[in-house]
Amino acid sequence: MNLMDDKNRVVIFDTTLRDGEQSPGASMNLDEKVRIATVLEELGVDVIEAGFPIASNGDFEAVAEVSRVIRSSAVAGLARAARKDIDRAWQALSGAARPRIHTFISTSPLHMKFKLQMEPEAVHQAIIDSVSYARNLCADVEWSPEDGSRSEHDFLCRCVESAIRAGAGTINVPDTVGYAVPEEFGALIAMLKNRVPNIDKAVISVHCHNDLGLAVANSLAAVDAGARQVECTINGLGERAGNAALEEVVMALRTRQDRMPYATGINTEVITRASRLVSTITGFPVQPNKAIVGANAFAHESGIHQDGMLKHAGTYEIMTPESVGLNRSTLVMGKHSGRHAFRAKLKELGFELGDNALEDAFRRFKELADKKKDVFDEDLVALVDDEVVRSNERIRFVSLQVIAGSKGPQRADLELEIDGRAQATTATGDGPVDATFKAIKALFPHDARLQLFQVHAVTAGTDAQAEVTVRLEENGKTVNGQGADTDTLVAACRAYLHALNKLLTKRQKTAPAALTA
Ligand code: KIV
Ligand code: ZN
Repeated sequence: MNLMDDKNRVVIFDTTLRDGEQSPGASMNLDEKVRIATVLEELGVDVIEAGFPIASNGDFEAVAEVSRVIRSSAVAGLARAARKDIDRAWQALSGAARPRIHTFISTSPLHMKFKLQMEPEAVHQAIIDSVSYARNLCADVEWSPEDGSRSEHDFLCRCVESAIRAGAGTINVPDTVGYAVPEEFGALIAMLKNRVPNIDKAVISVHCHNDLGLAVANSLAAVDAGARQVECTINGLGERAGNAALEEVVMALRTRQDRMPYATGINTEVITRASRLVSTITGFPVQPNKAIVGANAFAHESGIHQDGMLKHAGTYEIMTPESVGLNRSTLVMGKHSGRHAFRAKLKELGFELGDNALEDAFRRFKELADKKKDVFDEDLVALVDDEVVRSNERIRFVSLQVIAGSKGPQRADLELEIDGRAQATTATGDGPVDATFKAIKALFPHDARLQLFQVHAVTAGTDAQAEVTVRLEENGKTVNGQGADTDTLVAACRAYLHALNKLLTKRQKTAPAALTA
């Protein structure tokens, strides 16, 4: 059997930028969304759900910009079953090479009664109206019965049949609250295939949440039962416990072809880079033992395992690190390396920087090579990520001098450039981090509250770069900032400034009136 037969091709629909962004604290700005979308396209994702255009102006702009930039993947915009939502989504998608409108409404008794406060008949009519309206605008329409896994089967079948008749080419069945178990969810898909008379006119999709840790298992059970689109996110990001992790779905399909002879269009070698980028931008670290992309996913600790690996990698490795784009840490360059080699190395790591960004990154590389004996790939990734997230900042880091140690008070002398003007101050605090953050507050007064402060070493060794994540909250809006440096306090200061700059951008964006229904 040819694995690339269309009937065995599984469409990968990535919703990192929409459902993933709904993770508390995972908000991303426009540039960040475009960067992620670009890597998703390189990864070979078939459909990128770029946002929910009516939810905010920021979401609208993100869908519009991703639509302009992305050429080979389809770009989807989410819309409730309302004309104003669908119009807004269509407007945002106007520049897309392959636009898709994704419209949804709840179909479970619980959601219809308490959330929508609508009778099933009215919901059924809204499905016909919204899907036909969307289909008149856009050739590619996806429809989702929200809370589909807890919907009554007879009603669900009727809604799916009507949505297909109204023009939906993809029917996406969500396990919205992550309640299903694999056998049951597979049976639900099989039931739809058996009972909906026009089901062969649509692609069946699934969208599984991970509340019970079953999102990937449920998605795979659904594929086995006939689903041919899986909705997922990088690192399993998403509302509450997240969505099915793209990397796990794709690598399970690829590794277990004997049991699941289905193909995706994913270039798996881009997985590690996509995972790192999403983690850096959102500030959500990947747990070390996370499947496929965790730091320990390909590490072999015990003597017995190491011995087995030396004799035959297959003894303990079911897929190669290279297949997911993980190259063993290699010493890259020292302080004598030139621009040429630096540019070539960045290219190998997947970064194509413009001249100015390259120059800045090269300068910081030289500084790093002066301080740090060995410069590894991971160091360069952290350095470039740090450089890229910092473009267009109003508040810029200039210098920091800190007095730390057990004989307090700890003191921070900080110099910043705010809107192009150099400013400096000194602050004391309860520890060096507190002193540093107080100095920032003195130079740029604000009311944001610190919600998270996290430090992670990029490589091993005492001279490793520290990668710090800071989460700030202001009037219910949360942002994450990142900073990397061999000096943990400088990294902390950069991370705080990054978050603060994002908050300033967020303040300028006004959201439209709250959503109803
Ligand atoms: O979880 C869910 O039901 C959703 C829908 C909008 C597809 O995210
Ligand atoms: Zn969802």
